[in-house]
Order: sequence, then structure tokens, then C-alpha cells
Amino acid sequence: MSAKSGNFTIGDVTVDMPVKSGTIGPDVIDIGKLYNATGCFTFDPGFLSTAACESKITYIDGDEGVLLHRGYPIEQLADHGDFLETCYLLLHGELPTAAEKAKFDHTVSRHTMVHDQMTRFFQGFRRDAHPMAVMVGAVGALAAFYHDSTDINDPTQRMIASHRMIAKMPTLAAMAYKYNVGQPFVYPKNDLDYASNFLRMCFAVPCEEYKVNPVLARALDRIFTLHADHEQNASTSTVRLAGSTGANPFACIAAGIAALWGPAHGGANEICLRMLMEIGTVDRIPEFIARAKDKNDPFRLMGFGHRVYKNFDPRAKIMHKTCHEVLAELGIKDDPLLDVAMELERIALHDQYFIDRQLYPNVDFYSGITLKAMGFPMTMFTVLFAVARTVGWIAQWTEMIGDPGQKIGRPRQLYTGSPRRDYMPMGKR
Ligand code: SDX
Repeated sequence: MSAKSGNFTIGDVTVDMPVKSGTIGPDVIDIGKLYNATGCFTFDPGFLSTAACESKITYIDGDEGVLLHRGYPIEQLADHGDFLETCYLLLHGELPTAAEKAKFDHTVSRHTMVHDQMTRFFQGFRRDAHPMAVMVGAVGALAAFYHDSTDINDPTQRMIASHRMIAKMPTLAAMAYKYNVGQPFVYPKNDLDYASNFLRMCFAVPCEEYKVNPVLARALDRIFTLHADHEQNASTSTVRLAGSTGANPFACIAAGIAALWGPAHGGANEICLRMLMEIGTVDRIPEFIARAKDKNDPFRLMGFGHRVYKNFDPRAKIMHKTCHEVLAELGIKDDPLLDVAMELERIALHDQYFIDRQLYPNVDFYSGITLKAMGFPMTMFTVLFAVARTVGWIAQWTEMIGDPGQKIGRPRQLYTGSPRRDYMPMGKR
């Protein structure tokens, strides 16, 4: 890492702050000495100009629409590998050999079952509970069952916890779905690949054989790869902050699931489909475009815009292609929602408001149409996002915990509240 430096002067104090360069991407100004030297904090709500950590896992170039995992373009990983290969890459930093991949697949498949008492845990929820509410609770509860992989200082336990999380998330997600629809839980089958296993746990019923559609399984596996990791997004930053306190990995992932649920983040895929359904037909698109531009209307074009991408989200392009593949495989010739989505994208990309703000479709824009066609209810869309993102959260958590310079995250603030004042007795208020 090359080091330059920059001087910062405030009043009569000048601070020399090192400028650090990474492998690729923007340099960073190390402001660690700023407060002690000047008594000032930096101020950056929303972290628009703040790098919170150093990482080797994922690189995004928002202007070029580039996404690399350990240096490999998302397009190549999505086209050539499978999700568990990307999991191995994110966790270990290199693509696995055939033997390493076989061992990793076998290890993950041997952790797919959850403690059978978890079935009673689900009974505590209302049947109509949102599956994301169930997932936050169920994943946090894993810490109550797996005490032997919560010592974060033991690398072996960290790796076991990582394998457990990757393996058990689909099982818990399928259980949340089955509980929601009132069908019996389906146990994992270890001779199925990751995506096929998940499809079967969701859609198989005891009264007949379930045959996995290989085209849908491949599409779902690719969708998992697209959602695996994405640098320091809100939910990953949540996991890192929770992890910085020494909390166990299950608690940290539960915190990540909670953050992902928000409509500005992973919850957008569900809200985006609801938006497309509300628009309903192509002729109503101008009305919603006008609402998206109206500052007095809180409505936003869900699935559009991104803090980092000021170009196409590369995942959105692959998701769009996958959407057409799935609809074709299912014989869905003209899905009105796809017509609305494609016309909405065409109009928005030619509208000055969106052009000026560099608003493009993001990963959530086409995912809802695809997942709905595969048979998932809208309330499961963000759950699938969480299943996929678990490996990214775990890889980032592991990287943070393994950093010898790691400290608890504790940001400061700009205080604009009341100065000190004395207590006022009730009779004098
Ligand atoms: C994900 O961070 C990640 O990497 C996240 C993610 C991941 O993989 O982890 O990629 C997953 O969360 C994708 C994003 C999903 N969210 C949505 O689709 C919700 C709709 N999009 C927005 O709410 C918004 O674009 C955000 C939240 C995604 C980004 O918001 P920013 O970067 O804080 O930008 P902003 O809100 O300041 O908007 C800048 C301008 C504003 O207009 P002005 O005040 O300058 O006039 O663009 C406008 C906004 O009003 N704008 C939109 C818009 N998004 C931004 N206007 C209409 N529709 C939109 N979708």
C-alpha cells in the first residue's frame, strides 16, 4: 500500500494526515490523529465519504458498474461457478481446487439440519408473521443451541460457525416459509445441491415426490451468487459493528438480517414488486414517474438508484437475463409485471431527472418478478436475499475479527441539544 500524506489546517493547528492507496479504487485519508490534534471530529452522516475499514473481499466501481469478489468479476462467477464456489472464494480468498470444492460442499451439506427443538421455537410465532421477523428471531436463537462455535477468538470455531450459518440459513428460511403457509417442515436432503435443496425444502409436500426443475435451480443458484456480498453496505456494516463488540456470530448475523429488512436496502425487492403491481399497466407509468420526482411525495421508484452505482448495477443486468430465462422455462409468455418493469426502465433511463441523478436499476428491480414466477410469496424475497448475503456477512465478520488492529466501533456526534441546565421542580415548570 503506497503512502502519501496531506496537511489539514484548522485555526493555528496543522495536522499531517497520511493518504493511503489500496490495490484499486479511491485513496483514503487516515484521520485517526485528527481529534487529538484539533479537538474536531469529521462529520459524515450516511458515510458518503467515509471508508470504515480496510478489506480484501469485494471491490465496487460505481462509475463503471464493476463488482469484483476477490478480484473476479461477478459476471464470470455468475456464469461459470456455483454459489458454494463463490462462498469458498469469499471465505478463503481463492477459487477452490476440485478437491477443496468437494470437501467444502460436503462440509456444508453436513450442517444443513437445525437442532430439532428449533421446530418448537417456530411455534411461538403467529402463522402470518412476516418471515423476516421469524428469521431475525430464529437466527439469533441459534446461539442458544450452538455454544461450541461462539468463541470468536478460536479460528476453528469461527470456521465451524461460518459453515453452520451458510448451511442452516436455507433450512431456517424454508421452515419460515412452511410455517407461514401451514405446511409441514421438509428436512434437507444432502444429495441435492444448495439451490435444489432449498427449492425442495420450500415446495415439496409429503403427499408426492418433488422433482427439482434444474433450470430453476440453476437460476436460483445464480441469484444467490448475485446477492452474496457487496462491500460495506448497511447490513454488512451492521454485522461488522455488532462483531466489533465481541458478540457471537449468530447474534451478528441476526443484526444483519434486521438491517437488511429495511425498504431502502434488502427490503426493496418486496416493495419493488408491490410497486409494479400497484402501477399495474404500462399506461399508468407516467403517473408514478411524476410521483417519484415530486419532493412532496415520499414515493420512490423502488429497485432504482444506489449509493455506489452511478451506472448500471452489473447484478441487475444478470438478474434481467435470469428473469427472462425463468419466465421462458415456466412458459410465462407475457407477464404484465415484466412489461411494466421493462417500460418503466426504458422511460426512466431517458428521463432527465433520473439521468441527472444517475439513477439506474439495481439488483432488486428484476428479482421480485423472477422470484414470484418461481413460486415464492413477496414476503420471502428479502429472506432469500438474507440467505445469500449470509456468506458475505460471515466473510466480512471473519476478516474484521482476524484483524489484529480491530477495535470496538464507537462513532462520535455533533451535539446540538441543550447545554447543561439544572433540574426544574414540578411546581416551577
Ligand atoms: C440494496 O449498499 C448496497 O450495496 C446495497 C445493496 C447490496 O447489495 O447490499 O446493493 C442492496 O440495498 C440496493 C438498493 C435497494 N433500494 C432501493 O431500490 C430503494 C430505492 N432507492 C433509493 O431509496 C436510493 O436510491 C438508495 C437508498 C438506494 C440510495 O440512496 P442515496 O445514495 O442516499 O441517495 P439519495 O437518497 O440522497 O438520492 C439522491 C437523489 C435524491 O434527489 P435530490 O434530493 O438530489 O433531488 O436521487 C433521488 C433522491 O430523491 N432518488 C430517487 C431514487 N433514489 C434516489 N428518486 C426516485 N426514485 C428513487 N429510487
